[in-house]
Amino acid sequence: MIFQKAHTLRGEVTIPGDKSISHRAVMFGSLAEGRTEVTNFLQGADCLSTIDAFRKMGIEIENTPEKILIHGRGLHGLQAPSSVLDMGNSGTTTRLISGILAGQTFESTLTGDASIRKRPMRRIMEPLSMMGGKVESINSNDCAPLRITGAPLHGIHYHSKVASAQVKSAVLLAGLYADGETLVTEPTLSRNHTEIMLRYFGADLQSEGKTARILPEPHLEGRKIDVPGDISSAAYFIAAGLIVPGSEILIRNVGINPTRDGILRVAQEMGGNITLLDENYNGEPTADLLVKHSQLHGVTIEGDIIPTLIDELPIINIMAACANGTTVIRDAAELKVKESNRIDVMVRYLSAMGCDITGTDDGMVIHGGQPLHGTEVDSHMDHRIAMSFAVASLVAEGETTIKGSDVVSISYPGFYKDLARLCGF
Ligand code: S3P
Repeated sequence: MIFQKAHTLRGEVTIPGDKSISHRAVMFGSLAEGRTEVTNFLQGADCLSTIDAFRKMGIEIENTPEKILIHGRGLHGLQAPSSVLDMGNSGTTTRLISGILAGQTFESTLTGDASIRKRPMRRIMEPLSMMGGKVESINSNDCAPLRITGAPLHGIHYHSKVASAQVKSAVLLAGLYADGETLVTEPTLSRNHTEIMLRYFGADLQSEGKTARILPEPHLEGRKIDVPGDISSAAYFIAAGLIVPGSEILIRNVGINPTRDGILRVAQEMGGNITLLDENYNGEPTADLLVKHSQLHGVTIEGDIIPTLIDELPIINIMAACANGTTVIRDAAELKVKESNRIDVMVRYLSAMGCDITGTDDGMVIHGGQPLHGTEVDSHMDHRIAMSFAVASLVAEGETTIKGSDVVSISYPGFYKDLARLCGF
């Protein structure tokens, strides 16, 4: 797909449902007794992989344009899957479902696309096996395909080396089936949607600082969930509104959970004019964001804020390329094991656009303010790379071609349409 420089962005956009929360609604609804009704569910390919997997384990899930209805069968209601479970491109589905499957009484096999089959699974295999789980990498390379044989699980206190909500959630979900309490302590607090939603479904789960603690065998009860808009998707419009001269846009219904809002804090520290309007709280906090074009300046991004903006670092790179001065990103080695190696890919294509950017072991250094020009970008089948360069193209001279641009269907199928409308294309 070919992209061009934009004149200005104007108008409003309503952000589709949060990917992390949509996955969890299907999973926990399946493990609850009775009916769970989910509105504003993200109809992205990743979340559809989660629906497929639970359908294959005997859960009836109705997917209509207005809502998702999950007819949960309780903690012990899953059936042995009718075939191999295909995770598609979804790391969240793979890692969270592994925690659930470890505590079942049947065997299952998980696989996924080429990217999923390269992503590290040792991080969940290790704690799950400490609990007594049997999770095996079929090709003995610590990656999917995985064979999971249900086994009796023990409660543990797991001290995770990575701040990862996927690891934390896998252990907490296995903890639902353990013989005692399970605790997870992380080096830095990662997104806490699992803790919030499992508690809402009736789990006995407490969080204190960087430790979450869960008791086994709760009675989970079907619930209603209205999924807030995904701040990780809103991030592309926040950046576009800030960097394209003359822009003023309203981004509606954005989830602003403090474990996810690092993009807002960084954008404001860079000098971004963002106003939060109509703040609400319904289990998860939300707000509308009014974004106005601003001259940005470079900042240092490191430490505890990193997990709160880990998925937004590619688009923050684009903001940094347009900012005056230097932006330094540290403590973000996790970028190398996302859907693509996001340090390598961002450095390669931002350099090709004329930006002064250097990759490091755990981040990048960007000397911003150079004019950008169009180039040919390969998305590496990474949705966040495609969306980041679509935004960069709005301020680049000439044409930007993005190969593999369709990959945005993973998290935001209508992204290009919404972006084009705001640009007046
Ligand atoms: C997610 C957690 C994050 C994030 C991913 C979604 C989740 O991954 O990058 O897009 O829903 O739990 P890690 O937990 O591996 O950091």
